[in-house]
Amino acid sequence: MDQNPQIWRRPPDNLLRSRSQGVWGVAPAAGGMSLSPDSNRDFSAAPFWTPLQQVPAGTLVKVPEGKKTPAVFKPLTIRGVTFQNRVFVAPMCQYSYEDGFISDWTLVAIGSYAVRGAGLSIIEATAVAPEGRISPQDAGLWKDEHIAPFKRVADFVHSQNQKIGVQIAHAGRLASTAAPWTGAKLVPHSEGGFDSVAPSEGKFSPQNSDPRELTIPEIKELVEKFKDAAVRAVKAGIDVIEIHAAHGVSIHTSHMKTCKRHSSTNLAI
Ligand SMILES: Cc1cc2nc3c(=O)[nH]c(=O)nc-3n(C[C@H](O)[C@H](O)[C@H](O)COP(=O)(O)O)c2cc1C
Repeated sequence: MDQNPQIWRRPPDNLLRSRSQGVWGVAPAAGGMSLSPDSNRDFSAAPFWTPLQQVPAGTLVKVPEGKKTPAVFKPLTIRGVTFQNRVFVAPMCQYSYEDGFISDWTLVAIGSYAVRGAGLSIIEATAVAPEGRISPQDAGLWKDEHIAPFKRVADFVHSQNQKIGVQIAHAGRLASTAAPWTGAKLVPHSEGGFDSVAPSEGKFSPQNSDPRELTIPEIKELVEKFKDAAVRAVKAGIDVIEIHAAHGVSIHTSHMKTCKRHSSTNLAI
């Protein structure tokens, strides 16, 4: 899934080991530019002019004599995707969007992690269906129109020679919950709230929604929706797709012992 035409390039040995200076050195933002022998060549795969970052920000470029490269700065390849370091930014919900469309906010928030050297920045829990949002303002990938804004962020992160991920999610019984800074209470329909569905009946907590149990065909459809969202992420150029299976979302509660079993099977689904 590595669609980034830029190849991570190991810094030259003389930069990695500077015997005259007993200090650590990490490439700063735009470090690739200053370290490049072809300074100010452009990164042609971006839809805008930007300098080629041959050595991405956050790359360890100086190791004092006698010291070893710490693991966090060692490149890592997982299933064909190479991260120049192991500084990974976890997905963090922003509750800041309309109709699932990520925005300039995402570009700046995620882009700033990439510029400052994170080898992987993961876009927050992103709903695979509108009723799978936590808050009405969650990010989404449930329709093709959502691809373009994701591609814009992916293109920027790739222009910095870094990797980008997305976490695809279905909130289940957590759906229709307000952003934490407004009290994380149930959002009424009059304020954009919506009915929730989950793998079984039962509220997550008294202040959460009262979900309708998904039918077995609906559960199968939901699996397809995860697939469709993943395909859209790939079309947008996203390098890494994480499936949200924590914090009480659908996949998590489908196997939580404290949740009711599905009525038709009496099984955790
Ligand atoms: C503002 C904020 C938003 C978060 N949103 C998500 C999210 O969208 N998806 C998720 O799985 N975890 C979310 N988390 C949890 C983080 O991904 C992460 O698990 C948590 O910060 C603990 O990280 P650590 O184990 O590296 O300390 C969020 C955390 C914060 C602080």
